[in-house]
Amino acid sequence: MESKLNKLKLEILKGLENVKSADALRALEIKYLGRKGELTKILRAVADLSVAEKKTAGKLANDIKKEIQEKFELVKAELEKEKKEIFIDATLPGEKIEPGHLHPITILQNEIEDLFAAMGFMVLEGPELESDFYNFTALNIPPYHPARDMQDTFYIETPLNPPLSGGSLLMRTQTSPMQIRAMKKYGAPLRVVVPGRCFRSEATDVRHEHTFYQVEGLMIDKGINFSHLKAVMEEFGKKLFGPETQLRMRPKYYPFVEPGANGEYSCFLCAGKGCRLCKGTGWLEIVGCGLVHPNVLSAGGIDPKIYQGFAFGYGLDRLAMLKYAINDIRLFHGGDLRFLKQF
Ligand code: DAH
Repeated sequence: MESKLNKLKLEILKGLENVKSADALRALEIKYLGRKGELTKILRAVADLSVAEKKTAGKLANDIKKEIQEKFELVKAELEKEKKEIFIDATLPGEKIEPGHLHPITILQNEIEDLFAAMGFMVLEGPELESDFYNFTALNIPPYHPARDMQDTFYIETPLNPPLSGGSLLMRTQTSPMQIRAMKKYGAPLRVVVPGRCFRSEATDVRHEHTFYQVEGLMIDKGINFSHLKAVMEEFGKKLFGPETQLRMRPKYYPFVEPGANGEYSCFLCAGKGCRLCKGTGWLEIVGCGLVHPNVLSAGGIDPKIYQGFAFGYGLDRLAMLKYAINDIRLFHGGDLRFLKQF
């Protein structure tokens, strides 16, 4: 009996050494330790032995059973470990996470916000879905005014604002409506810039998009005149395009300013000599501006006899196109990573 036990023990240990999978281990366990297993059978036979034999053979059988069971546990644990190690194999190549970055318009917008903040302007944002009143009427563009034709947009009709009730909502065509909202909220004196997205019904081409960005500016105080406007715009141009940058202003009509002007900066690429960027003129046209019309001050709740102001509106996409030498405005929202990755 004892030699039979020792032989079986060696056989089992050898079998365990060659086990490569959990399934094979389970088969081995059943073969030797299962209810009808070979070791189990011998252990049962111990009961039929004489008392003297039981003492030695019984003890040996139990010791071997214990040793074998422990060995089985050990092999099982090793197999588990191997399985886990494969699962978290640190030598496999990792998944590449592409770092994101800011959009060129956002980069420039942040820069411009900082420039104006340094001159004491606060930065506000306004609603993209705006009322007809703020977008046009309060800015001295009444419903019959032809200036509305140039800024056709997307009108939103809901049961709450039937289009003929005069309270229609529209996607704002400019950031200028924030002039009125800011005046109403903060009163005078006031210094504010408003970057934001605008919308128009446009036939798109390299210079026109249905969705684009502007930066509005407004300063109101006692005794504000055209020289204040010019000083702020000159400072802005020098900071953005370099210290040699010149500003020229030519009269232009905008309903919400009087007098109104078109602001042009000397071309930073050719220093005013004339090149492809400035189309040979030496000047870059990027901003509308003027002294705030008395009707607009009144609409904002400010007495034009006491306060005066200036306002301007930069095309942010236009500024970005110039600064980064981009020749098609549609690239900004085309979602082409080959373009976006260059910034
Ligand atoms: N809102 C005008 C536009 O979209 C730009 C503009 C012109 C803004 C003159 C102003 C301004 O504040 O004074 O064409």
